[in-house]
Order: sequence, then C-alpha cells, then structure tokens
Amino acid sequence: MPAKPLVARKGGALAGTVRVPGDKSISHRSLMFGALALGETRIEGLLTGEDVLRTADALRALGASIERLDDGTWRTRGRGVGGLAEPSRVLDMGNSGTAARLLMGLVSTHPFTSIFTGDASLVKRPMARVTVPLSKMGASFVLRSNGRLPGAVVGTNMPVPIEYRLPVASAQVKSAILLAGLNTPGRTTVIEAEPTRDHTERMLRHFGVDVREEVLEDGALAVSVTGEANLTARDLVVPSDPSSAAFPAVAALLCPGSEVRLPGVGTNTRRTGLYETLKEMGADIAFQDQREEAGEPVADLLVRATALKGVEVPPDRAPSMIDEYPILAMAAACATGPTVMRGIGELRVKESDRLAMVADGLVACGVKVEAGEDWMVVHGTGKPPKGGARIATALDHRIAMSFLVLGLATDEPVGVDDGSFIDTSFPGFVRLMNGLGAGIGEG
Ligand code: S3P
Repeated sequence: MPAKPLVARKGGALAGTVRVPGDKSISHRSLMFGALALGETRIEGLLTGEDVLRTADALRALGASIERLDDGTWRTRGRGVGGLAEPSRVLDMGNSGTAARLLMGLVSTHPFTSIFTGDASLVKRPMARVTVPLSKMGASFVLRSNGRLPGAVVGTNMPVPIEYRLPVASAQVKSAILLAGLNTPGRTTVIEAEPTRDHTERMLRHFGVDVREEVLEDGALAVSVTGEANLTARDLVVPSDPSSAAFPAVAALLCPGSEVRLPGVGTNTRRTGLYETLKEMGADIAFQDQREEAGEPVADLLVRATALKGVEVPPDRAPSMIDEYPILAMAAACATGPTVMRGIGELRVKESDRLAMVADGLVACGVKVEAGEDWMVVHGTGKPPKGGARIATALDHRIAMSFLVLGLATDEPVGVDDGSFIDTSFPGFVRLMNGLGAGIGEG
C-alpha cells in the first residue's frame, strides 16, 4: 500500500450527525460465528475495514461461504462446528491481531494444518499468549523463535478441555480459547481477574450456545463453554464502534462551539471506559435512547465542546478503554492539569508501541509528557498545544487518527506520515470528519 500523508488544520466548530462504521471486534466475531453456524446468517452494519475483510477471506479459505449482498448486508453460510477444511493457501491476517489470534484458536481444534502470516506490524506482535494455552488443548505450533508470525498451527483431532487463568487481561486470548473449546468435548474454562470485552460470550449466546459465567471467591470471573457445541444461524446487527466514535467525539470536545451526534454506538460497559473518563474530565457527553440490538447495548451519543480538566485514570479501567488511550492522551494534552495513566503496559504490544508513539508525538507537538514502562502522564495547560509536527504512525490506524484529531485544535497543523492504515478500522474517516466541518487533507 503506498503511504498516504495527511494533515489536519484548525477550523471552526464541528456540527452534524454522522454514523460511525460498525464495531471491529463484533464484526470479526459475526463472520467467524456465522462460519461455524449451520444455516444462513445475515449481518447488517458489518465493518468493511481491511482487518475484517482479512477475516472474511481467511474464513473462505477455510471453506465457509461469505458474501456481501447488493443491499450492503453480508450473508454467511456456515460449515458447523468442527466442519472447517484445511486451507490450501497461507492465511494473511494483514494488520489484525484479533483476526490472527481468534482464528488460530478456532483452527487449533480442527485436525489440519494452517499457516498464518501478517504485515510488518503483526509479525512483531506476541503470539505465545495464545499458543501456550492452545498447546495445552493439544494443538502444536511452529512459530519464529521469538513466538512471532509467520507460523503454522497444527490442529489436533483429540482436543482436551482446559481451565486457564489469563496472565494478561486480553479478550483476544479469552476468545481464542473459547473458540477452540467449541470443538472440544467437555468444559473449557477461561478465568479472568479483570473483565475484558465480552462480545464473544454475548454473541455465542445469541447463536444458542450455553456460555456459563461464575464469579470465583477471589472475585475473578470464570467463563466456560461446553463442546462440542452447536451454533444456530441468527441474524445480527453490528453497532457503531465506540472505539471509532471516540475520534469524532474527542474532536467535538476539543473544537469550541461543536455539537456532534453519533447514532447507534455500542455502549457495552466493557468498552466504554474512555467515555467514563472523559465525563470525569468534565466532558458534555449524553447517551440518549439507550436500547439493545442483537445482544449488545447501544445508544445515540451527543457530544458538545467542553473545556476539560486532567484526571487520574484508575488502572483497573484499562481493559475497557485499552484502544482509547491514544485519543484520551490528545484530550489530556488540551485539558487543564496532568492526566495520569497507569497499568497501560499492554499498549506497547498493539499495532505499534502506542505508549512510545503517543509520548513522542505529543512531545513533538509541544506537550510535556512523562512516561515509564507501563505509565504515562500528560501535562495539559488548559489550551491546545502548538502542534506543527509530522507524526510517524508505524502502520497504526489509531495513532494516525488520534494526531489528526489533535491537529484540529492546535494553532499549527499536525500531519501524519501515513494515513492509509486508517482503513483497517475506520474506512471513510477523513470524509466523515470533513463532513462535520473538519479540515483534514492530503499533504
Ligand atoms: C480485541 C481485544 C483487544 C483490543 C483489540 C480488539 C478483541 O486486544 O485491543 O483492538 O476484539 O478481542 P487484547 O485482547 O489483546 O487486549
């Protein structure tokens, strides 16, 4: 993909109603579960970002039928749990950790070999976090020596159920194990000390699977599935992604006089830590018309420009806003006083080392930042920093979008060296933002 430099310039207020694309996590899962269900599943609002298209492509290579229909909905015809077929080509998961890790889980309890790879960002990300538990279930793996892709998954035909306590708070690891457990006789249990996003659990229930949850004596949550499970095809509506909505929402907060409405955004509390934090910073954000669609809560968000104040973010909130720290840091850079973020070491193994990328980029824009291995403090002065920098994005969509949002508030423009990766999660980002009145262009 050729690099696409972009630049954001300060303009007037943002105003209007815009529908943000579908939730990335839910979109991946809806294709995967549709591919496992017997019968036909229709999916409305699927994110057609690069990451999700990789999942669709891989599932086709595994034998599922997945089509985009003329009316924009998607139709899957599944193979049944255990019914996937050996892929005759390498499964290239592009930029997507979720696609790679969840599908590695899924194929690990199918009796065939699959070869996975990814782009320059994905091949740097740790895979041992899934291969360790999946090996205990009977699969074997040949990865590069540091546990990175490319690598092969040799699925087992005699899977054994496990009980596994997550060493890192990760919905991807939890989901990889539960997906492997669907085709494993007996009860597979994942124990999580900190609650992570539960889209897998909710959607499995929507497809008729009995997912059990139990709070243990130490407060941890044990989540189990019993295999071999059957999924019944069910239609789905994918809510707008709260992680994507975060960009126009923070832009509206930072540009004086703005009022932006974002309909149908997912409000699952395992995802809304950013909004809770912004409200603590004083943000004028309302969740209107709260309702439920296909097992997930949604609401219309109304966001009005507000002068923010710095806060201390509780570390146990990290799993519910893990992808949102970069955009929070932009809000913090314009707030009054320090914003303290602790317990954020996982940011270092995302699409890029987000902790370093955010800290370096903000410093280049004139912000005082302190950072350590798993913490960061952003010192806001109560007005936007000077800006005037071109930020390296290291193939990271959220780094690109975060700094472009900051550039809408700074006196001097903020550019990013490559905005092409924005399409992994938010196709149409520039158009949508400019439709609200933002000034983002090539350059
Ligand atoms: C995701 C889980 C999170 C998140 C990612 C999507 C998912 O990753 O960062 O964007 O869909 O399960 P971890 O589980 O590694 O924290």
